[in-house]
Amino acid sequence: MSDSPVISLHDVSFTYRTQISRKPNFMEAVRNAGRGQRSTKLVHALKNVTFDVAQGEVLGIVGANGAGKSTLMRAIGGIVPPDEGEIRVRGEISALLALGVGFNPQLSGRENVILAGLATGLSREVVEEQYQAIVEFAEIEEFMDMPMRTYSSGMYSRLGFAVATNMNPDILLIDEALSTGDAHFKEKSSQRIKELKDSAGAMVIVSHSMATLKELSNRLLWMHKGEVIATGEPEKIIDAYSKFLKVGNINAVMEDF
Ligand SMILES: Nc1ncnc2c1ncn2[C@@H]1O[C@H](COP(=O)(O)OP(=O)(O)OP(=O)(O)O)[C@@H](O)[C@H]1O
Ligand SMILES: [Mg+2]
Repeated sequence: MSDSPVISLHDVSFTYRTQISRKPNFMEAVRNAGRGQRSTKLVHALKNVTFDVAQGEVLGIVGANGAGKSTLMRAIGGIVPPDEGEIRVRGEISALLALGVGFNPQLSGRENVILAGLATGLSREVVEEQYQAIVEFAEIEEFMDMPMRTYSSGMYSRLGFAVATNMNPDILLIDEALSTGDAHFKEKSSQRIKELKDSAGAMVIVSHSMATLKELSNRLLWMHKGEVIATGEPEKIIDAYSKFLKVGNINAVMEDF
């Protein structure tokens, strides 16, 4: 069984539907007298996305802002159900999504860590044990009793990273978590990721840092406007993506594939 993929997406599509009310102009206001103008804005964030992540593989994801990377991570993490297609995941997921998803900012760091542990089904004792390891890794001991809304974004992501990587996940989803830590924490977290590579079943890492992706990933996937443009060797994808960032034209780069 171990040669079947750990994560498998087949033809996955997802559309955000947002109700917006816009101010009517004068004529519309007269025509609709009293009735508010409402419309639904659709964003096709994922379009027929298909790929697998094999046992032991670290898949990096690149793409411009709004390409659908975080949406993809939420879909894999089971936070947004796809409208179409199928997502199969083998094992327990620890999702370290865009900064602090899952944390309640009104609660203290300590309370959030305990809740996160209990939520993954761990016993109280195991959670207490892990608590110490988490705090040590995050190095924010003196802030653990403060509400998390008072944390700097780096502190927030330190704790998120420490929690997610201490739960011994089979699957680790990391979205931008490495980008807000300071240089010391960045180094420490890429070290941790390298250690987890051996024990975790699979990892998916979203980052805008090509250096990070090159260092950690076995393979890269490039997303653009909800679609998978290409997957392949990190070097090759980074070259094409960097070229695209410079030229701004996807077709010019596609010839390379
Ligand atoms: N909660 C939401 N409601 C409505 N639209 C959303 C929501 N979240 C994201 N979107 C839209 O979906 C598209 C993809 O967004 P997503 O956050 O997945 O991009 P991303 O690749 O993670 O970008 P970034 O590099 O900026 O993090 C964007 O057009 C965005 O406006
Ligand atoms: Mg994102």
